[in-house]
Amino acid sequence: EMKTILCILLGYLLGSLPFALIIGKVFYHTDIRQYGSGNLGGTNAGRVLGKKAGISVIVFDVLKVVLAIAIATQVSKVAGIWTGLACCIGHCYPIFAKFHGGKAVSTMFGFLFSTSIFLFQDASYLLVPFGMFIIILYLFKYVSLASMCAAISSSLYITALMLGFNVESISVIIASWLMTVLVIYRHRTNIEKIKKGIENTISWL
Ligand code: G3P
Repeated sequence: EMKTILCILLGYLLGSLPFALIIGKVFYHTDIRQYGSGNLGGTNAGRVLGKKAGISVIVFDVLKVVLAIAIATQVSKVAGIWTGLACCIGHCYPIFAKFHGGKAVSTMFGFLFSTSIFLFQDASYLLVPFGMFIIILYLFKYVSLASMCAAISSSLYITALMLGFNVESISVIIASWLMTVLVIYRHRTNIEKIKKGIENTISWL
């Protein structure tokens, strides 16, 4: 359907807004792609520019997904789900930043947050990734590892919780697994660094 396709396109464009680049350039006159991990995400903004910048980037990256999904759910719940995925893809491969973006952690959280409110009125599945993130971060001090574990745990939990035969639950299960694959694929250099023992540990949280 035409409206759904337009929402998905809007999701990709909103996801493409590189807030780590925008906030870094506008408020700190710094292109964070040249520092730290070079990633356009909240973690690297926090690492390079400080806690306030990191949190601001995370908030805006979450909000762009919430906005896109809020608009798309006016068309249908399924449009909301696929628009959320498009937003994550836009965040990782932004048309406004030469297709070099972030790692889809905040945007996946935004998807989970939005679907829990706009689609399913059930926030329980936010607790699983959130708890996993905190525990892994506390144990290993790697934001990257905590993010990947959070993504996997949320998809497992959503699969168990939503397994059913209506088009919305099947869509949310497939979309969350695709996001999880995207999150892990975008962390492939982090995985190599973890193996070598040279991955960054958190210092600003
Ligand atoms: O924000 C994504 C996080 O999981 C890793 O970011 O900059 O340490 O590669 P970074």
